[in-house]
Amino acid sequence: MSPTATRRVNLSAPWIDERDEELVLEVLRSGWLSLGPTGPRFESMLADAVGVPHCAAVSSGTAGLHLCMRLAGVGPGDEVVTSPYSFVASANCAIYEGATPVFADIDAHTYNVPPESIEAVLTPRTKAIVAVDIFGYPCELDEIRALCEGRGIALVEDACEALGARYKGRLLGSHGHPTVFAFYPNKQMTTGEGGAVTTGSREEHELLVSLRNQGRLETSSWLQHGRFGFNYRLDDLSAALGIGQLEKLDRILEARREVAARYGELLRGVDLETPLPDDADHERSWFVYVVKLPEGVDRDRVMARLADDGVASAPYLPSIHLQPYMRERFGFAEGLCPVSEACSARTLALPFHARLDRGDQEYVVDRLRVALG
Ligand SMILES: Cc1ncc(COP(=O)(O)O)c(C=O)c1O
Repeated sequence: MSPTATRRVNLSAPWIDERDEELVLEVLRSGWLSLGPTGPRFESMLADAVGVPHCAAVSSGTAGLHLCMRLAGVGPGDEVVTSPYSFVASANCAIYEGATPVFADIDAHTYNVPPESIEAVLTPRTKAIVAVDIFGYPCELDEIRALCEGRGIALVEDACEALGARYKGRLLGSHGHPTVFAFYPNKQMTTGEGGAVTTGSREEHELLVSLRNQGRLETSSWLQHGRFGFNYRLDDLSAALGIGQLEKLDRILEARREVAARYGELLRGVDLETPLPDDADHERSWFVYVVKLPEGVDRDRVMARLADDGVASAPYLPSIHLQPYMRERFGFAEGLCPVSEACSARTLALPFHARLDRGDQEYVVDRLRVALG
């Protein structure tokens, strides 16, 4: 970013206040930093917030997705269908278990994968679908679930960007199947690093709790391991921060909605595509504010101009199948998912967080107009 810019607007910022500090300090002073009472308290608050009977906190969204591959019994030789227009973890979780990621192309406006696109890539080897709610916009859960049923395919939802979003009026995470949330500091709420898996199934929950804790069983002593597991636990300091965040989650989500609405207003008349509005079945939880630049606009130049003016932006999201390691390992190339690739070339994330003020937003949009020339 240029040292001469008079104003700086960051891409994201967590909302941390004195209450968060107090809760974290309490745990720090208690000396019980992991496997204490704060983790279960956080899980129970999160389960209530989502409206689901079971919630297992984990060390990251990626860890949660990996454990869901275990729940689904994914292994070598299996295929896992997911979105190419997502964060790499949506696909990496399958690779961790020796399976092959299969990418189904997206819709150019929701940026999610439509059910018919998933159906087109299903094979007898499809073991699971990782359905992604990208940028907090709910995917077509009922139709995707219908594709799984009767075919022996497991449904896992990657709602890492979508805490607080609703599909057909019901909060994501409460639709029965395992759903993963993530709490990295750019997310709606944060625990520093961290994540959670919600499920309607007691058996799945018990397995998650064991797998995240080195395969210990409820009855095991510390050095007894009933199954092969991982250390994907969330520590109590992070859980304490999570409690502070959940206490104000409604305010955070509302503030993010307001910031998004303000961008919508300010960008009226600017030649670019703004995020899809909600409808009766889809209520977004605002994670990022991503616009699509007109075809032919040099996005790198726009980003460079914005950076010169102190405005951060990001080329959200590159297509996963074109990442260097994916090309190398699986031979994926351009043309596999043309819609995703076209979106990847034109989408741009603007600064976005709960406490972005009108002045900064006006500045961002003014600089964007200039950068677009
Ligand atoms: C769609 C999606 N899936 C998975 C993840 C992984 O979460 P984490 O960074 O907590 O491992 C993220 C986080 O950026 C994400 O946006």
